[in-house]
Amino acid sequence: MKAVLLNGFGGREMLAIGEVPRPSPGENQLLVKVMATSVNRPDIIQRQGHYPPPKGESDILGLEVAGTIEQIGPGVSGWKVGDRIMGLVAGGGYAEYALAYAAHLIPIPDSMSFEQAACICETYITAFLNIFMIGGFQDGESALLHGGGGGVNTAAIQLCQTLTPNAKIVVTASAQKIERVKELGAHLVINYQEQDFAEEIKGYTAGQGVNLILDHVGAKYLAPNMAALAVEGRLVVIGVIGGAKAELNLALMMVKRQRIIGSVLRSRPVAQKGKITAEFANTVVPKLADGTIAPLISATFALDEVAEAHEMMEASKHFGKIVLRVGS
Ligand SMILES: NC(=O)c1ccc[n+]([C@@H]2O[C@H](COP(=O)([O-])OP(=O)(O)OC[C@H]3O[C@@H](n4cnc5c(N)ncnc54)[C@H](OP(=O)(O)O)[C@@H]3O)[C@@H](O)[C@H]2O)c1
Repeated sequence: MKAVLLNGFGGREMLAIGEVPRPSPGENQLLVKVMATSVNRPDIIQRQGHYPPPKGESDILGLEVAGTIEQIGPGVSGWKVGDRIMGLVAGGGYAEYALAYAAHLIPIPDSMSFEQAACICETYITAFLNIFMIGGFQDGESALLHGGGGGVNTAAIQLCQTLTPNAKIVVTASAQKIERVKELGAHLVINYQEQDFAEEIKGYTAGQGVNLILDHVGAKYLAPNMAALAVEGRLVVIGVIGGAKAELNLALMMVKRQRIIGSVLRSRPVAQKGKITAEFANTVVPKLADGTIAPLISATFALDEVAEAHEMMEASKHFGKIVLRVGS
């Protein structure tokens, strides 16, 4: 089968289209004929050599797929060849065929195309898991979402608007994306390149701080995040693009009864990811099916154009998702 291969770790020049054997489904797995996948920031980090796949998983890039079921492995029931599905994979999405655990797949609503479906699982499940299942975000609370133009955070804004319509959503964004983040429905957008977000939040919340922060910046934002967090607030860390080590005032955190939670989706045990997928399918997929939530596709590339797709993300020219069209 055709797949995107790496000639080594590094820049976009390491990406190459090649041929590899088609995998066979093991226990509880299915073989998916991939029609579309999408680019996620962790793919870039993996290409650079800083995010290896979990043990035993494909080392081909790609964390999600949309396509049809090609072959059913032992122990799987409830699916048939030809079903239209979208799902999480721990690797292998940038290829004509990919293995997926049955529990990590969701039927694609009739109203959605493969390209739209390829934008759902990694980003919307990450946002749903960390804001609602882990962060316990409630209607009427306030949240700070960093990097509002990205895949995870545009999904996060949409989910908060839909599931917690009375919540207050504060978003940080770069200058060129502020207007579009406002149009998406954020109540306050802070230019992270020019403004001090902790100070802005202090003003906006009359000194109270926000109840939840979804952060992928890490060390660089730990101090301002803690300053922007309310009493009993939750800071959920899902990335460390701004460094992994920082100093923390534990006394203040204790007195304010705050929580800092680290979270990663990819390497969770199969059964746990299955439960998360099922809860997402029950709660969010009906909103995708009826069009309440529509994924934001910034651009679509053919698989052969993968380097251009990565370039777009690395230059942060996208708003929402970048799709790779694979099958036809
Ligand atoms: N833990 C998990 O399970 C998990 C799963 C998926 C993704 N992630 C992480 O989540 C993050 C987002 O992934 P993605 O696929 O959505 O990537 P993406 O589409 O590239 O989005 C990243 C966003 O971060 C913004 N950003 C960059 N520097 C920033 C800063 N200093 N302050 C605030 N925002 C900043 C960018 O904004 P501008 O473009 O406006 O500069 C961009 O919109 C990545 O770090 C990824 O590794 C974690």
